[in-house]
Amino acid sequence: MSESEETAVEPALPRQRRLVTAVPGPRSLALHERKDAAVSSGVGTMLPVYAVRAGGGVLLDVDGNALIDLGSGIAVTTVGNAHPRVAAAVAQQASAFTHTCFMVTPYEGYVALCEALARLTPGDHDKRSALFNSGAEAVENAVKIARSHTRRQAVAVFDHAYHGRTNLTMAMTAKSMPYKQGFGPFAAEVYRAPMSYPFRDGLDGPAAAARAIDVLNQQVGAANLAAVVIEPIQGEGGFVVPAPGFLPALAEWCTANGVVFVADEVQTGFARTGAMFACEHEGVVPDLVATAKGIAGGLPLAAVTGRAEIMNAPHASGLGGTYGGNPVACAAALAVIETIEADGLVARAQAVGAQMLDRLRARQARDPRLGDVRGRGAMIAVELVDPTTRAPDAALTKQVAAAAHAQGVILLSCGTWSNVLRFLPPLDISDALLADAFDVLDAVLDQVPVPTA
Ligand SMILES: Cc1ncc(COP(=O)(O)O)c(C=O)c1O
Repeated sequence: MSESEETAVEPALPRQRRLVTAVPGPRSLALHERKDAAVSSGVGTMLPVYAVRAGGGVLLDVDGNALIDLGSGIAVTTVGNAHPRVAAAVAQQASAFTHTCFMVTPYEGYVALCEALARLTPGDHDKRSALFNSGAEAVENAVKIARSHTRRQAVAVFDHAYHGRTNLTMAMTAKSMPYKQGFGPFAAEVYRAPMSYPFRDGLDGPAAAARAIDVLNQQVGAANLAAVVIEPIQGEGGFVVPAPGFLPALAEWCTANGVVFVADEVQTGFARTGAMFACEHEGVVPDLVATAKGIAGGLPLAAVTGRAEIMNAPHASGLGGTYGGNPVACAAALAVIETIEADGLVARAQAVGAQMLDRLRARQARDPRLGDVRGRGAMIAVELVDPTTRAPDAALTKQVAAAAHAQGVILLSCGTWSNVLRFLPPLDISDALLADAFDVLDAVLDQVPVPTA
């Protein structure tokens, strides 16, 4: 699209950071007052900047500010916001039919997406899929399927895990505040094992796996375990990349003990980490894969994909839901997959990641508050710490994120101790925009003096 064609669409979407008011500006603040009067205060907003358009790594707000998007709506708009291919597919499907309920009268888009998931997920075994609406729903269904297949009940998850906010997935999620606090009682038969967290535990992968397996053997018993559910790179828990060998050793133990190995690739899936799925980095083939977020460019869709004999274990009509695999969301997902493949977005994620790592490592070399720089592909994070004790520095993290927001960079934090800045740009962002965002980050960090020992 030429510049003139693009400016014909109102309001035009700038291709650079542009601040015309304070962030948030007066129109956003007025909308936020309406939000406070109409929306439950339990639904928080990190940055009350109200969007009117987004794409190409830029979000335009109601005041005319153009912010650089380093969050992709929490790892969702990987192919880009309002990607033309996705927008066209959605429009076409929405004008044909918006819903029939796949459980009542089915349609081809659902089947085509399940065929694509069988082709794209790790392993060349016979696979089946089932489609749902959200990541939490996919994880819940993976557990249902594993229980049905194994006729066992226990589920193992890990320290720092995040799997969602429904009742079962709250139990599976590690962090209490804000996800679980006051919302119990939680689902039973969920057990937690220690995660491999190289920056904090110093263990290599096999040693960390042996520690986790020992906990599971002693505290649960392999014969009682239906599933081990793990994020191959943890998301909300702090972009924790397990030490090499940890995931393969766990997967091997699961296979040896008849335990279903479930990879929660809700945040890591669909090119985000510089592979179609993060398990591929270590050649791990999960029994089941839960996906959502990046699968459909922003439309609500999720999936469980896995070994046919496991996926086919539940009785007929045991799985489903009114909207699961909605036709408009399926059309979006098929367009997302086409875009990832046609536009080489796996390679683009690697290039975006290399640029971010270069900037962060250069900074780390002269700034000891950057305790750990980690991640894969376009899923990169920095853990901010006290330079002397390596204690998590949540206050600095909050300060840096807020200052970046004020300068027009949408930057998310995460981590058990809220001391991790995470970088998840959409893959249609330009190198120049990304460089500008990291210049802002450098300037913001420069303004906060490094404490002297
Ligand atoms: C790894 C992981 N699993 C599950 C979920 C839950 O997904 P949703 O918010 O779509 O329910 C998330 C969301 O952040 C996630 O990162």
